[in-house]
Amino acid sequence: MFTIITGAQFGDEGKGKIVDMLASQYDIVARFQGGDNAGHTVVAEGKTYKLHLIPSGVLFDARLLIGPGTVMNPKILMDEISMLADNGVEVTPTKLGIDAKTSIIMPYHIALDSLRESKRSVKIGTTSRGIGFAYVDKVGRDEVQMADLADKSRLLRKIEEIAPHKEAAIEELGGDPGIARSGLDEYLEIGKKLKPYITDVSKEINLALKQGKNVLAEGAQGTHLDIIHGTQKFVTSSSTVAGSACASLGVGPKKVERVIGVIKAYITRVGEGPLPTEQKNEVGEHLREKGGEFGTTTGRPRRCGWFDLPLAGKSVNLNGYTCMALTKLDVLTGLDILKLCTGYELEGKQLDYPPELSDDVARCKPVYIDLPGWHEDITEAGSFPDIPENARLYVELLEELMGVHIAYVSVGPGRKQTFMK
Ligand code: GDP
Ligand code: IMO
Ligand code: MG
Repeated sequence: MFTIITGAQFGDEGKGKIVDMLASQYDIVARFQGGDNAGHTVVAEGKTYKLHLIPSGVLFDARLLIGPGTVMNPKILMDEISMLADNGVEVTPTKLGIDAKTSIIMPYHIALDSLRESKRSVKIGTTSRGIGFAYVDKVGRDEVQMADLADKSRLLRKIEEIAPHKEAAIEELGGDPGIARSGLDEYLEIGKKLKPYITDVSKEINLALKQGKNVLAEGAQGTHLDIIHGTQKFVTSSSTVAGSACASLGVGPKKVERVIGVIKAYITRVGEGPLPTEQKNEVGEHLREKGGEFGTTTGRPRRCGWFDLPLAGKSVNLNGYTCMALTKLDVLTGLDILKLCTGYELEGKQLDYPPELSDDVARCKPVYIDLPGWHEDITEAGSFPDIPENARLYVELLEELMGVHIAYVSVGPGRKQTFMK
């Protein structure tokens, strides 16, 4: 069975929690895009793990894979391996495989990301992790790959060719051109350590599927941050939708059985860009405080708003979800009235689907219906009938209006705080 999980909003929907919940049923869990801009939280046995690169199935026996469509900062990966070892989780080459073609985030990518962002008159609010510039080099065929990192002469040959261009680009943005050749010794040391982890991800996954094994593809970021279909220019630099898992992991689309969308009971966004239902008021404060809505990677406060059905409907289309996992329902507890955005108004017209251009999304005025809230604590609910009637009505209405079955409902960060609907 091949299952794909993606975020249905702007990231941070709780993908880490849902992947951890499902991982025991899978033989392989693979990351297919993004880099350490991702921050996926797994809460288990009283510990909180913030994972940036290692797939969120790490606490189970599954084989973990980092696919060639990802961009990987080797220093962050080593930190993560150490953090897990400190918590008694050994990430050996038997456990983790990294594709030979995985793009490496070099120090100059990080410098260029920050320099370029500082010069932008309209900021994106990137995570400053060098993600965009690493993908620029992949598309521009100037990337350093995992296999290069593990081979000194190959790496030095590549840097010799690439460095003059990076020096010029950094200098033009007012940075220190010396960065273009910096950090190589440290990278080569890490390359030696990571060499045994190198694998062919597509080959491994296809073999596993032929043997009847189960493979879970873990998406990073969220649908509306997709480089092609998202709210450009306020997007990340990879394709975050489900189809990207096939292309990036090298698996044919006929193999896909389940596509699970992770979606919050409200909406958040970190960084710039349109968010029609954003609440810059006490409702937004409630969601941020109660939901702990601060970036896992950057610590920035997340912008919060009401559930946005037009955006959810577009996600259903872009990903072809077979079911959804609704997270953070508990965060809505205590609000007297819940507003649900069922459409937009733009230039006097009513829309039930987002306009294609980001500028137009930014001009949309949300159209809401009011629903009754609830005050009962739901964080210990073990089944759907355990939650108050108004909470059940809210979930059922979302399900009906999205047209996709909500298979899982999450009512807290812990492992026991999820039930099947
Ligand atoms: P991801 O990037 O999609 O994996 O999500 P993040 O880990 O960045 O952010 C989700 C945050 O919400 C984490 O701190 C989770 O521990 C937490 N979380 C996940 N599900 C729930 C839930 O149902 N209720 C509450 N209160 N917190 C949750
Ligand atoms: P997870 O996987 C939320 C956002 C950044 C910025 C934009 C571009 O934890 O859901 P980038 O550094 O990718 O060039 O930044 O994308 N962003 C995320 N927002 N969750 C994420 O990952 C994100 N990864 C990137 O805030 O707006
Ligand atoms: Mg996150």
